[in-house]
Amino acid sequence: MAPQQEGETETANSYSTGNDGQGVGFKSKVTVVGSGNWGSVAAKLIASNTLKLNSFHDEVRMWVFEETLQTGEKLTDVINKTNENVKYLPGIKLGKNVLADPDLDNAVKDANMLVFVTPHQFMEGICKRLVGKVRGDVEAISLIKGMEVKMEGPCMISNLISEQLGINCSVLMGANIANEIAVEKFSEATVGYRDNREIAEQWVKLFSTPYFMVTPVQDVEGVELCGTLKNIVAIAAGFVDGLDMGNNTKAAIMRIGLREMKAFSKLLFSSVRDSTFFESCGVADVITTCLGGRNRKVAEAFARNGGKRSFDELEAEMLQGQKLQGVSTAREVYEVLSHRGWLQLFPLFTTVHEICTGRLPPSAIVEYSEKEPRLSLLEDSTRYTK
Ligand SMILES: NC(=O)c1ccc[n+]([C@@H]2O[C@H](COP(=O)([O-])OP(=O)(O)OC[C@H]3O[C@@H](n4cnc5c(N)ncnc54)[C@H](O)[C@@H]3O)[C@@H](O)[C@H]2O)c1
Repeated sequence: MAPQQEGETETANSYSTGNDGQGVGFKSKVTVVGSGNWGSVAAKLIASNTLKLNSFHDEVRMWVFEETLQTGEKLTDVINKTNENVKYLPGIKLGKNVLADPDLDNAVKDANMLVFVTPHQFMEGICKRLVGKVRGDVEAISLIKGMEVKMEGPCMISNLISEQLGINCSVLMGANIANEIAVEKFSEATVGYRDNREIAEQWVKLFSTPYFMVTPVQDVEGVELCGTLKNIVAIAAGFVDGLDMGNNTKAAIMRIGLREMKAFSKLLFSSVRDSTFFESCGVADVITTCLGGRNRKVAEAFARNGGKRSFDELEAEMLQGQKLQGVSTAREVYEVLSHRGWLQLFPLFTTVHEICTGRLPPSAIVEYSEKEPRLSLLEDSTRYTK
């Protein structure tokens, strides 16, 4: 076996020493499924580590949803030629060991570690295409914020991946605006894992750098719901900015939003831990997305236009192919709330959706506080799980 490298811990290294049945000298092969703004940064982080750590193959494959650029060239070819995702992360070198691949089946076929990072609305289709195409021993992690709402109830993306592909799926969420991590500004993230601590440590090792500090937490649902729900709060914060309401109002929106995030998560999954909301995926992600980020930015423009220009129109104009998550998540959460008779319990989530669909004006984001008594119902949310 190759000698242990600096920075490889004993526990984390056990994955490559045969303790898990993989055999001595086994090297993990990583594929990133997705190549947008965060997908490209994730590939860069991972690629810097696979070069340093003996327990990983150097090469990191990155599946690219193929596009033809204005120059007439294919995005994949340009990434492989320039080592840059010129459309979604211009100006940043990904690392020479990142190989862009437009063929999904080919990109995943040899990997035993799959990193899913596409906008959530595409995941159902991607999972369907991957059935029977991934290795039996594969471990997955989802960096995707959002959920699917089905007849039988809400389905988190990690669960969709697990169920459709029959594999274990962890999550990584946090206060992570991709463009800031791309230029190596310090930030933190949280890995949510189900029950295998060694797998969690393997993910921590794959993502951690001196400027990206990753902490494992045994609470997949809590971590994932934080990452998903905070985008609704960011939309509310954008409305507040568009209405020039100031910092106190924005802080109030963040606090109420965090409270609804916690209540909603615990209503859906009684296993969700309070402490998760104090990790990077919780309060820190709420703060960063309400201060920066695309959901806040587009919601601000929506409010400045008095709700007269649709989110679809603003998204296309302002984001150049990047996707908003908060508006669709607000709709999905609204469906769950209305189906379960919980609308009154979640005035902020409900109001955000009603503003997005034009039923209420943007100013309604601060009017619901007049109905404050409804919020007190959340204090004892366990009553509603029965
Ligand atoms: N960007 C961030 O700062 C950030 C940070 C943390 C988490 N996230 C989350 O990461 C996930 C991915 O976001 P992103 O920023 O990497 O993407 P993005 O919004 O920058 O880019 C959109 C991506 O979707 C792809 N795409 C378009 N149509 C598609 C289709 N039909 N099928 C499959 N793919 C298609 C595009 O090629 C592009 O790669 C989202 O869930 C997001 O919430 C983003």
